[in-house]
Amino acid sequence: MSLQHRVVRLRLMRTFPTIIVPAILLGAFAFSRRSIHPRERAAALADTLVMPPVLKNISSVPATVEVNLVAGPARLALLPGHVTSAYAYNGSVPGPTLDVHEGDHVIIHFRNNLPEPTTIHWHGLHIPAAMDGSPLRPVGPGKQYDYIFTIPRGTAGTYWYHPHPDVRTGYQMAMGLFGAIIVRDANDALPASLPEKLLILSDNRFKPDGAPDIADPNGSQGEIDQENGREGNVLLVNGQLSPVINIRSGETQRWRVINVSAARIYRLAIPGQTMLHVGDDGGLFEHPREVNDILLANSERVELLIRGTQPPNTRTTLQTLPYDRYDPHTRPDDWDVTHDLLSLRYLGAPPQPFVELPRVMRTVVALDTTHVTRRQVIVLSQGLINGRTMLMGRVDIRSRLGATEIWQIENVVTMDHPFHLHGFQFQILDRDGVPEPYRSWKDVVNVRKHQIVRIVVRFDDFPGKWMFHCHILDHEDHGMMGILEVQPPSARRKS
Ligand code: C2O
Ligand code: CU
Ligand code: CU
Repeated sequence: MSLQHRVVRLRLMRTFPTIIVPAILLGAFAFSRRSIHPRERAAALADTLVMPPVLKNISSVPATVEVNLVAGPARLALLPGHVTSAYAYNGSVPGPTLDVHEGDHVIIHFRNNLPEPTTIHWHGLHIPAAMDGSPLRPVGPGKQYDYIFTIPRGTAGTYWYHPHPDVRTGYQMAMGLFGAIIVRDANDALPASLPEKLLILSDNRFKPDGAPDIADPNGSQGEIDQENGREGNVLLVNGQLSPVINIRSGETQRWRVINVSAARIYRLAIPGQTMLHVGDDGGLFEHPREVNDILLANSERVELLIRGTQPPNTRTTLQTLPYDRYDPHTRPDDWDVTHDLLSLRYLGAPPQPFVELPRVMRTVVALDTTHVTRRQVIVLSQGLINGRTMLMGRVDIRSRLGATEIWQIENVVTMDHPFHLHGFQFQILDRDGVPEPYRSWKDVVNVRKHQIVRIVVRFDDFPGKWMFHCHILDHEDHGMMGILEVQPPSARRKS
């Protein structure tokens, strides 16, 4: 089946349940003047935002998700309307979504059909080190690797997967390799009736023929990219330009938003209305927070409840507002421009009452800091962590299995660096001494210019080597990364 057919079929499948009711209600009003075939009517009201396909489970064993995933060259339109040579997972960009439940046993038969080594990193998942897809375990061209892990209880949330080969992560992602992971909780506190949307935010820069424009590292653009991180002028949602999401007045939608961009930080807002921020990287937190806008750094995720607070037959826009993450010397001229990402179209149906939301969505128990075994200082400077670049054969930090540690991350330069730790979710204690206003599970934190952020992390399981790095891909690829080794008790040095 061609990609286009699959997309159309998915679009119909997806929109059927959510669209059919408003379509019937609307029938009497909007379409009373001439008769339109019901299917045409549904299509006219459908979201144009297409959800990525979902990875097909080939196992019939309960609580087991077994899938095939191939990374390979593909001919498709990374820039809508311009077919080009790209890289894709199972032939689609974004790649298919891995949709699983807490406790599921997951088996991913991965095949690398790319002409170069790659890995798949399951960003944010708490799984054994051998399954983490870090640069320490490349999968060569033509080779296969089975990623096998169990999704821990209590980790329902939005995650994502991407390649993580040594030095080439930015290139492979610019070529189209990224996909979403949704971990569901069978007892999710949010009403199952809320329509759910997945928004994968990416940006890219293209040549006139639609091929990704990746600058010569020795040219002036290459130098700017290495400094700022590669930013593209084309902003896409699920690979689409300015798609439309329909909403009813009074409806509440649940959006899972992932920033897969190499360097761009989004400041999301919908003019004229607030949003309810209900979840972070590691899922829901206790109480919704009403926000006017929300910052989403590279590789971060948020869950938002979007309420249809506008009248029927109106329109509004999801935008990204200016945010100054840059060094003043390399700040792009258009940094202060607001970009539209998608439009929100209010259907003509009469307003419905808002659904009631639970008072407590999930308890996030604070990590116990009374038995912290170590305080670790991590200094981020331009391209360096603690003064050095990554060496594959070097361990930078050794921690003990079972230990709880406070990491103090200090950004000593004039641009933001989003700091990411593999394998373990942490809690943010404070930023520049100001206690974090709410508790959530995170695996990346944007450390602003000259900011000090303190996080607490517990190495409760999974000994082995884990990466920590800046998630601006150009910085990571140039070595702004280090290795943490979590050592089992048997490896403890005798004193
Ligand atoms: Cu998105 Cu090393 O990670
Ligand atoms: Cu990661
Ligand atoms: Cu950085």
